[in-house]
Amino acid sequence: MIMTDKNNFEKRIERVLISEDEIRQKLAEYGSIIDREYEGKPLLLVSVLKGAFIFLADLSRNISIPHEIAFMAAQSYFDGTTSSGNVNITLDIAQDISNYNVLIVEDIIDTGRTLSLIYDKLRARAPLSLKVITLLDKPERRVVDFNADYTLFTIPDHFVIGYGLDCGEYYRNLPYIAQYRE
Ligand code: IMP
Ligand code: MG
Repeated sequence: MIMTDKNNFEKRIERVLISEDEIRQKLAEYGSIIDREYEGKPLLLVSVLKGAFIFLADLSRNISIPHEIAFMAAQSYFDGTTSSGNVNITLDIAQDISNYNVLIVEDIIDTGRTLSLIYDKLRARAPLSLKVITLLDKPERRVVDFNADYTLFTIPDHFVIGYGLDCGEYYRNLPYIAQYRE
């Protein structure tokens, strides 16, 4: 559904869960961790669209060692706030990753289905190493046993929007992470 009403847009924001400042601090912290971990190694950040686009852009700018970026896309949530249960890879990376240390950059791990599929696909291409960094983790909702190597924030079981995360394709532009009002 196409939304043009700013008033309705704002009414759906229940409360701010994670502020811009808290995000900024965590980005600096994890940028340094990645700098130390991958110093002197070929690093490729693989972002999972669309939700991770802002996180990738900010994380990349908090990393000071040389690195490359690439994009994948997976579709698992359709319009609303419930998981469809199956995951489709709709965009894949073209390059050979066998000479890279790959770090998957994800917005949120919810059921774990999306990431476990992407992880297995990339693992099969034999990168030098393969790790996962996620902005958010909702461990209460896990269906597939999968955990990130680095998690910036662990959150309770609320549907969240902002900082790249959407509801029906909206709210990605919010600079903070908020709880969505159903
Ligand atoms: P999965 O359930 O772990 O496979 O998560 C699939 C995808 O659903 C995530 O990468 C997000 O794009 C999306 N998703 C899960 N929880 C939320 C949420 O609370 N807000 C917005 N998107 C979400
Ligand atoms: Mg995602």
